[in-house]
Amino acid sequence: MLGAEDFINDTIEDTKSKITGKAIIACSGGVDSMVAAALVHRAIGDRLLAVYVDNGLMRKGETEEVEQMFKSMGFNYVIEDASEEFFSALKGVTDPEQKRKIIGEKFIRVFERRAKEYGAEFLIQGTIAPDWIESGDGVRDTIKSHHNVGGLPKEMGMSLYEPLRDLYKDEVRDLARMLNVAASERQPFPGPALAVRCLDEVTPENIEIVREACYIVEDEIRNAAVSGKMELPWQYFAVLLPSKSVGVQGDRRAYGRTIAIRAVASIDGMTATYAKIPLDVLDAMSQRITNTMKQSVNRVVYDITNKPPATIEWE
Ligand code: XMP
Repeated sequence: MLGAEDFINDTIEDTKSKITGKAIIACSGGVDSMVAAALVHRAIGDRLLAVYVDNGLMRKGETEEVEQMFKSMGFNYVIEDASEEFFSALKGVTDPEQKRKIIGEKFIRVFERRAKEYGAEFLIQGTIAPDWIESGDGVRDTIKSHHNVGGLPKEMGMSLYEPLRDLYKDEVRDLARMLNVAASERQPFPGPALAVRCLDEVTPENIEIVREACYIVEDEIRNAAVSGKMELPWQYFAVLLPSKSVGVQGDRRAYGRTIAIRAVASIDGMTATYAKIPLDVLDAMSQRITNTMKQSVNRVVYDITNKPPATIEWE
C-alpha cells in the first residue's frame, strides 16, 4: 500500500469523482466498515448514510457502543432493529454455512429496504483482501463463505465501491488511527456475529449464553493485558459447544453446557497461533463463567490449536 496519508488523500479524491449521488454503507462498527465509512464520509459528507443492522447476534453493549462511534464521527446514520426477523429465519438451523447464508440473505433484505427508502445509488463496502481470498474468489477453495462478499450489488441495482479491497487488517488499523476511528483497536468480529460462536441452534437463549461468556472472556483478557500479564491477542472470545456434559451443582448431578475459550495471535487472520493465556487468567475466566451462568454452564475448556489446522472461529 502507499503511505497511509497518501492512501487517504487518493481515496478521498477517487470517492469524490466516482460517488456522484447518495451512498449507503452497512456499518457493523468493526474497523473495516468504520474506516470505509470514515473515508467516504470525508469525501461526500451527509450524502453517505451509515446503517447498523441489529441482528440480535451482537455482543453485549455493542449496539450502544456503535451508535456512540457514529455520533462522534458525525455520520448520518440509522440503527435498524431486526433481531426478531433474524431469529425466526434461523429457527432450527445448525449448519454453519447455512447460518451464514441465511444471515447474509436476511441482512441484504433488511438493508435493501433501507437503501430503497433512502434512494441510494452507491453501495460502499469495507471488504478487505482476506475476505475475498478466503471466500474462494478463484484463488482458493471456499473455506468459509464470509458473508460480506456476495452478489448483492447487482440485485440491488447500486454501484459498488470498495475502497479497502486490496488492504490487509494491519493496514486498515493504521488508517483507522490516522482517521481517529475509535474502532482502530477493536478486535475483528465476524459478519454472522455470535451465530458462528454458537455451535447449536441460534436461539435467543443460546445467544445469551455465548454473549455473556464472550463478554467475560473479553473483559478478563483486557484486564490481564492492562496489568501487563499478557499481550492483547488479535482475537479472543468464547464459543458455546453443542454437547452437554455431566457435572455437579451443590450435591446434585447437573447436565450442562460447555464453553470453549479461544484466543489467537495473528497478523491478518489468514494464519494464527493460539494465545498463551496465563493460568491465573484462565482460572478467573472459568470461575466467572460458571458462577455467572450456574444454571446453564458447568464446563470451560481452552482451545490450544493453531490455524492451520483449525480456523479461528469454530464454524
Ligand atoms: P477463520 O475462522 O476463517 O477466520 O479462521 C478468519 C477471520 O475471519 C473472521 N470470520 C468472518 N468474518 N464473516 C466475516 O465477516 C464470516 O462469515 C467470518 N467467518 C470468520 C474471523 O473472526 C477471523 O477474524
